[in-house]
Amino acid sequence: MAIILAIETSCDDTSAAIIKNGEVLSNIVATQQVHIEYGGVVPEVASRAHLQKIIPVVDEAISTSGVSKDQINAVAFTKGPGLLGSLLVGVSFAKAFALAKNIPLIEVNHLAAHVLAHFAKPPFPNFPFLCLTASGGHTQIVLVNNFLEMKILGQTKDDAAGEAFDKAGKMMGLPYPAGPLIDKLSKFGKPVFPFPQPKMADLNYSFSGIKTAILYFLKKEKEKNSHFVEENLPDLCASIQETIVRALFYQLEEASKLTGIKEIAIAGGVSANSRLQSYLIERASVLHWNYYIPELAFCTDNAGMIGIVGHYKYEKGEFSNQDVSPSARFPLG
Ligand code: KG4
Ligand code: ZN
Repeated sequence: MAIILAIETSCDDTSAAIIKNGEVLSNIVATQQVHIEYGGVVPEVASRAHLQKIIPVVDEAISTSGVSKDQINAVAFTKGPGLLGSLLVGVSFAKAFALAKNIPLIEVNHLAAHVLAHFAKPPFPNFPFLCLTASGGHTQIVLVNNFLEMKILGQTKDDAAGEAFDKAGKMMGLPYPAGPLIDKLSKFGKPVFPFPQPKMADLNYSFSGIKTAILYFLKKEKEKNSHFVEENLPDLCASIQETIVRALFYQLEEASKLTGIKEIAIAGGVSANSRLQSYLIERASVLHWNYYIPELAFCTDNAGMIGIVGHYKYEKGEFSNQDVSPSARFPLG
């Protein structure tokens, strides 16, 4: 029986959750709106916003969970990867809370947490399974042997899939983060513009070529017609979305073939994409996969998923000392 307070501050969402015996009782997320005017996350601004929001967000997570502060048995927090200044706010808060209450600290890898977000609500994937984690900062295929045993089979060599959505959106004048907006606008268009697919010999990804192809295509078309983007926005969005989704799948299908694993999960902010989800369902029926898609609240950054990793580490007694520090590049596995 364990009640865990979980803290997530790796990027631009300040989040706190209460997890009781592995069940998420509350999961509060305050998304920082301040970055919209800059067209992307400004690290210094993000850490200041975390400082302002951390205490009210933790208070709300505790009060809506129905447990009292004194019942909390441990504090789980994101050690990394992420923005150092942002991580530092969460790590410092977690240390102070654990010290004041004399309870253990549990460090959590943010990418392991995206994978274990699948254990927030049934149906749960069966081990071993493959998880495609695609977010604003990461794109990787993870072999998940166990709650705490994971291995990266492939990952991006340059941009992340979410970054490709956001940067393509920026080129078309869409506000940050453009991913959800591209998803919405795509519903009114068709993928009529052909962008080249990256060719990779292994299970790694690369999205910088797609980004450059979109940049040059837009430049060329705008020289012929300065209203090209406004006149073709839904078709452009649908084409970009289809290209990124297909690029994500090529390696995922290869990974399934190589490992023989047909339990396939998607995670991270990009897993909220409706075309990624519908394409997964289409391919799962052809390839006889069991597929798993997290609820929207567990796709994007949230402390609930941090608490789920915390729960399994608590059961194994894997605790950290007060001298633990954040790690901007914290590898999975
Ligand atoms: O997991 P997440 O919340 O934060 C990171 O750890 O990065 O992912 C955020 C990313 C952003 O790039 C955002 O544009 C993208 O996920 N995203 C989407 C959608 N919802 C969020 N991309 C495409 N379609 C969506 N519906
Ligand atoms: Zn994330």
